[in-house]
Amino acid sequence: MTGPRIDGARLLGRLQALGAIGRDAEGRLTRLAASDADRAGREAVAGWMRDAGLEVMLDRVGNLFCVWQAGAPGAAPLMIGSHIDTVVDAGIYDGCYGVLGGLEVVQALREAGVQPARPIAVAAFTNEEGVRFAPDMMGSLVHAGGLGVEAALATVGTDGAVLGEELARIGQAGPHEPGFLRPHAYLELHIEQGPVLEREGVPIGAVATLQGISWQRVTIEGVANHAGTTPMSMRRDAGLAAARVVTFLRDRVSRANAPTVATVGCMAFEPNAINVIPSRAVFTVDLRDPDEDRLRAEEAALSRFLDELAAAEGVTIAVERLARSGPVTFDPAILRAIEDAAARHGLRCRRMTSGAGHDAQMMARICPAAMIFVPSADGISHNPREHTAPADLVAGAQVLLDVARRLACGETGVPAA
Ligand code: GLV
Ligand code: MN
Ligand code: MN
Repeated sequence: MTGPRIDGARLLGRLQALGAIGRDAEGRLTRLAASDADRAGREAVAGWMRDAGLEVMLDRVGNLFCVWQAGAPGAAPLMIGSHIDTVVDAGIYDGCYGVLGGLEVVQALREAGVQPARPIAVAAFTNEEGVRFAPDMMGSLVHAGGLGVEAALATVGTDGAVLGEELARIGQAGPHEPGFLRPHAYLELHIEQGPVLEREGVPIGAVATLQGISWQRVTIEGVANHAGTTPMSMRRDAGLAAARVVTFLRDRVSRANAPTVATVGCMAFEPNAINVIPSRAVFTVDLRDPDEDRLRAEEAALSRFLDELAAAEGVTIAVERLARSGPVTFDPAILRAIEDAAARHGLRCRRMTSGAGHDAQMMARICPAAMIFVPSADGISHNPREHTAPADLVAGAQVLLDVARRLACGETGVPAA
């Protein structure tokens, strides 16, 4: 197989270098959106973009782009993107692989003297993870017009910080109006974050669908009282009620024989003392399903359960929606281009669904989009043990390069914008 090749050593070196940014004293990687660590990561990525001779641009919500101004004047760019913010105690590949893979593709195409018919942009979207500021996929959601700029900038984080103020503080609030780059098509390269590719020994996933995601914050108010003197029958225990929600979700989802998943990932009690019945419990519910009707049904079932629980336990319950995105079907022509590219490199490829949220989910609202997955060792992600074999990372980037070259040179069935 001849043609432009990505520089694997450069890509892998940058992944390690970015993964070293944002480590705490214990060596844990946490680069939450719009934090000082995020600033340091962004500066490294922007530096590599400039070193590659590319113009770096920021929009008002901190989405970071570089653009290779190639091809016909005024042609819409092919965009390749992902994110570099992380969860708490993260691995080094989630999101970063897609951004650095995109940059590597642009550099390799330029170095090979390829003349695309349109510009190629690389994007690092703000706050994909949604750990500090909800909703997740926020930067790409704003870019796609699904959330207003002012609403995004006014978002209050889990630490009480305001996103707009934090972006200004770290020097990442740019001048461009979000959405200023309207792509011809969007590609995202990502680690699978699940076990399927590794289990089947398949190196490339062509991501055909992405499941819907529902995030809610539940606040239960009970009454604080003495743990030793209050009979069990006389308690209004917010902690107990919260625990009942956790087991309700698990039992319901397990019984359903459907792909629904449910997670309570955050929980806090007040006053949080060993000998005081909790007066308040605040927790999150993450519900996901590839089928929109079933996701709605699960949300409704939870809502009914909360009403019954409030009556049964003598507590009050308030629910706030943090994020909601519907399932997505990616572009068939790009999926075929991914399969063709994998075949040309002798790499097995399977179509699959993504359980995780991705910026591609938002970009699919405004242009043809698809994703390429590579295997995750043991299916582990959102964990420092996240790992993908270097050869798989390089192979995935090579497939991305081939698909990007065909899209940018107008050689696929994706219609010209
Ligand atoms: C993002 O990684 C998500 O799927 O929550
Ligand atoms: Mn990600
Ligand atoms: Mn993630």
